[in-house]
Order: sequence, then C-alpha cells, then structure tokens
Amino acid sequence: MLRNDVYRRPLATALDRLAVGSGWRVVDVGAGAGDVAVALAEIVGRDGRVYAVDRDPVARDETARAAAAYSQVLAITQRAEDLQLPEPVDLAFCRFVLMHVDDPVSVLARMAAAVRPGGWVVAQEPITSAGRIGGVALSMPGARDPDVGALLPALVRRAGLFLEDAWAEAPAGAGPGPVASYLEDLTGVDPGDDPIVLPPLVTVLGRTGSGVP
Ligand SMILES: C[S@@+](CC[C@H](N)C(=O)[O-])C[C@H]1O[C@@H](n2cnc3c(N)ncnc32)[C@H](O)[C@@H]1O
Repeated sequence: MLRNDVYRRPLATALDRLAVGSGWRVVDVGAGAGDVAVALAEIVGRDGRVYAVDRDPVARDETARAAAAYSQVLAITQRAEDLQLPEPVDLAFCRFVLMHVDDPVSVLARMAAAVRPGGWVVAQEPITSAGRIGGVALSMPGARDPDVGALLPALVRRAGLFLEDAWAEAPAGAGPGPVASYLEDLTGVDPGDDPIVLPPLVTVLGRTGSGVP
C-alpha cells in the first residue's frame, strides 16, 4: 500500500484543476489504505461524501481506520468492474489501479456510469519503465500493465469520455529524502545517493456528456 506518498503533488494538481470543493460527492476506486480518500474528505468537508471502494476487504478496514475522523467517508468492498453506488457522484477518481486490472476501458466506463451528467472521471497511472534509478529503467513485474499510463488518454476516449486534459508529472531526487524513502518502502532497496526519477504519473481528466442533446 502507498502511504503518505510523494505523489501527493500530482493529486493536488488534478484536484485543483477541477476545483473540487465543499459538498462534492466523489468515489475513490481502488482506495488502498485510504490516503486519497482522506485527502478528498478534507476538501469536500462534512457536506460532501467520499465513497472509498476496493476489492480487498483489508483495504476497507485500513481506509475506515485512516478516515475514522471523517464521517463523510464510506469504505466499501467492491470490484471496480462491478462499481455501483447509492447515488451519482461528481467525480470518480482512481490512482495506481488501472495498471492492475484486466480491462481498464471497462473500469473507466464503469466509473463514467457512476458519475452525474457533466461530471468528471480522473485517473492517475504510471509509466513505470520511464522511471530511473541511477539511470536504469524501473520495472514492476507484479503489475498487469505497469506502463498503462502511456495509453491512458486513448483509453479514456475509448471509454466514451471527453478528454478534457492530460499531462504527466514525475517526482525526482537524489540522496536522503522523501523520494528515496518512498522507493525504499516500495522496493525494500536503499537507493543510496543514486539519482532517482520515480515513474511519471499520467493524469487524465475525462468528462461525461452533459445529458443535454
Ligand atoms: C497500488 S494500490 C493503490 C492504492 C491507492 N489508489 C493509492 O494511490 O494510494 C492498488 C489498490 O487497488 C486495488 N485494486 C486492484 N484491482 C482492483 C479492482 N479490480 N477493483 C477494486 N480494487 C482494485 C487493490 O486492492 C489495491 O488496494
């Protein structure tokens, strides 16, 4: 699970770009330990609602613990492929999730179906092989498609969404600091003083139709 991670900045960039605010109803798909759900809860406030969905019941328990102080967070065990919420949301979000699923287009379409007309689907996924430690490309054999970020803008369009914007951001560093700690947590290997570029995270902002012909 990714905790207190250095990818907070790309998250903030995306949420600022949408002007997510008080009272928004949102879903975080593949919520993991709940980092994004808590960040969203702070922004949407008590008048908003954050559904934190994950297929793993352990993730639901971790999110419920992380978000114990936020009554607006509801942690649910559900597969993204079966996503179904009690109400339409303004934003369906996922990060580091489509890289693990068999059919990212159908998950994006499911997220789109959970959103109100004119609402947002935002995905943030890596191009793992574009990351570097000491100039050597990173890999993640455990992921189904560790480079899915490189396809993301096209996948969003194939899911029937309007592609409003897309970009990539990559945290970088050398020597002790948050980037080295993050990498060590993830891989168990201390990168020492090697230069690091973490996998660029591609963000896509997709929008559903307005429903007005
Ligand atoms: C690498 S973690 C990312 C967690 C979180 N999104 C973050 O960025 O910190 C991937 C999460 O996606 C969940 N996941 C993977 N495939 C899923 C699916 N098909 N449906 C729902 N959750 C899924 C996993 O259980 C895990 O908690």
